[in-house]
Amino acid sequence: MLEIKHNYSLKLHNTFGIDVKTDLFADVSKPEQIVEIVSSDIFKEKSHLILGGGSNILFTKDFNGIILHSSVSSVELLGEDEISVLIKAGSGENWDEFVGYCLNNNWGGLENLTKIPGNVGAAPVQNIGAYGAEVKNLIETVEGVNLSDGKKYIFSVNECEFGYRTSIFKQKLKNDFFITYVTFRLSKPPHKLIFDYGSVELELKKYQDINIKTLGEVINKIRYEKLPDVNITGNAGSFFKNPIVTNKTADILKKEYVDIPVYPIDKNTAKLSAAWLIDKCGCKGIKKGNVGTHEKQPLVLINLGNATGKEVIELAHYIKKRVSDKFKITLEPEVNIV
Ligand code: EPU
Repeated sequence: MLEIKHNYSLKLHNTFGIDVKTDLFADVSKPEQIVEIVSSDIFKEKSHLILGGGSNILFTKDFNGIILHSSVSSVELLGEDEISVLIKAGSGENWDEFVGYCLNNNWGGLENLTKIPGNVGAAPVQNIGAYGAEVKNLIETVEGVNLSDGKKYIFSVNECEFGYRTSIFKQKLKNDFFITYVTFRLSKPPHKLIFDYGSVELELKKYQDINIKTLGEVINKIRYEKLPDVNITGNAGSFFKNPIVTNKTADILKKEYVDIPVYPIDKNTAKLSAAWLIDKCGCKGIKKGNVGTHEKQPLVLINLGNATGKEVIELAHYIKKRVSDKFKITLEPEVNIV
């Protein structure tokens, strides 16, 4: 039976730890329940919001509508061949526990994405990425229900329109497709490891045996040292995206700031480091009332106590203005603002 909660606090459902309420909250554990909701009168009358682990969202006010939350859980081995396995996971599974389960089974590919907060269903939405890996390279299909007609659909990886921290689920189908399952193609040994990321390469030198487990451990350690733990300090990871600029803009900046990190993308564009830009504006480790930026990674905005979403937004605007005034670069949020 689908239970709908009324006037429900979202404090434990967003990693920023913002205390707002929603009119209605539906915890969906089976795909059929979402089909049932879509055909209900409540759904037709109210606005809705799909919520996963709440690790990439900032609530700025109470939500006047129905929140659809996934607790679809299961991890299933669908098939295998000599070199790979096909694993189907429920969208409500905790991402890091799922990564740990795969590492324990010696299935490779997800080790660089260890310790990312959130649930499995959110991974394809923003094509999570870290330390040279992106989840799009491991996804086979994304399954779910279209909320506009209540029909089930399975997206092949090519149909997902993945890009840097984006996908069809964050663009055309934003808030319209409820993901129920994600299927991953993971490797069997020998695994191909990605460790050409500066800090990872350096740390890995301390290990004799380099395998997916040790690589996962190294990344766990780097994240632990650099990023605040959401269980202790409310945050939603990187608040802004790394800006993509033309090579011409990058060249002009390089002349003035010789140490500016520039990551080439193609013959016309390059990616800058939002963390570096914010840092250079003196906004690292700053505190304003109940909010601030993390002292080791200024791209991460933090809740220092009982912050409201409005306070976080004000800090974000302040940082955005400082970066724009100094570098003429516009930072765009990576986090969904509601
Ligand atoms: N930097 C500074 N000052 C700092 C921190 C970083 O100048 O205090 C500069 C350095 O030049 C550093 C560069 O920023 O080399 C990059 O820093 P980092 O390796 O931390 O990566 P990032 O580009 O800031 C991205 C992701 C993170 C992911 C890391 C590691 C985005 C928006 N963020 O951050 O993802 O963990 O790479 O791969 O792409 C997230 O999306 O929530 C997230 C945490």
